[in-house]
Amino acid sequence: MSSVQNPNPANPIARTVASTQSEMTELVLPNDTNTLGNLLGGRLMHFIDMTGAMAAYRHSRTYIVTAAMDHIDFIQPVHLGNLVTLKSSVNRAFNTSMEVGVKVWAEDTQTGKVAHVASAYLVFVAIDKEGRRRQVPQLVPETPDELRRYQDALRRREHREAESARRKQVKLANAAQEEAAKNEP
Ligand SMILES: CC(C)(COP(=O)(O)OP(=O)(O)OC[C@H]1O[C@@H](n2cnc3c(N)ncnc32)[C@H](O)[C@@H]1OP(=O)(O)O)[C@@H](O)C(=O)NCCC(=O)NCCS
Repeated sequence: MSSVQNPNPANPIARTVASTQSEMTELVLPNDTNTLGNLLGGRLMHFIDMTGAMAAYRHSRTYIVTAAMDHIDFIQPVHLGNLVTLKSSVNRAFNTSMEVGVKVWAEDTQTGKVAHVASAYLVFVAIDKEGRRRQVPQLVPETPDELRRYQDALRRREHREAESARRKQVKLANAAQEEAAKNEP
């Protein structure tokens, strides 16, 4: 996609992190688990994507797509019958993309014990109905924690860009090698 549309006039210039905070809770049912009775990683990733999208919607107030999900740490298993709570907020808004952080806790319904079980970072890109990218409002960090996440999000973006450039280089080098092999007598 080449051009960026004008920002939605209904969008304010900036939004706070608090205005993007989102949360959902799910009860882990048999269909969500593997043969050991633990929550499937893919199912948890779906919950993470959904909760992350809620924060991105609240920030951008337009359509969004998931561009990347990275740095997922599965810290400990979630068991059948646990309550899983996910919390998300936008860490930083760039031009058309937003980095969202999602943190996940599991609660044992019998003991009430709560454990942090996973964390992830996702990037969502704002688009219109035709799939054209849209600018997003800027994000204003207000607390020391929000400022730390805001600064870290830029470092992660630089890391993603460097990794993406490296992968492109490898792809080009492989294509050149295949082309050279084809031309060998
Ligand atoms: C995500 C997508 C819109 C990016 O489109 P693109 O033409 O590559 O756009 P650009 O390279 O110009 O990048 C647009 C923005 O996305 C970001 N972006 C693109 N690919 C990214 C990636 N892999 N990781 C993180 N950010 C990414 C860019 O940094 C840029 O952000 P900025 O505008 O804030 O600077 C496009 O690749 C897409 O539609 N992918 C499929 C999304 C999808 O189907 N998701 C699952 C279902 S929702």
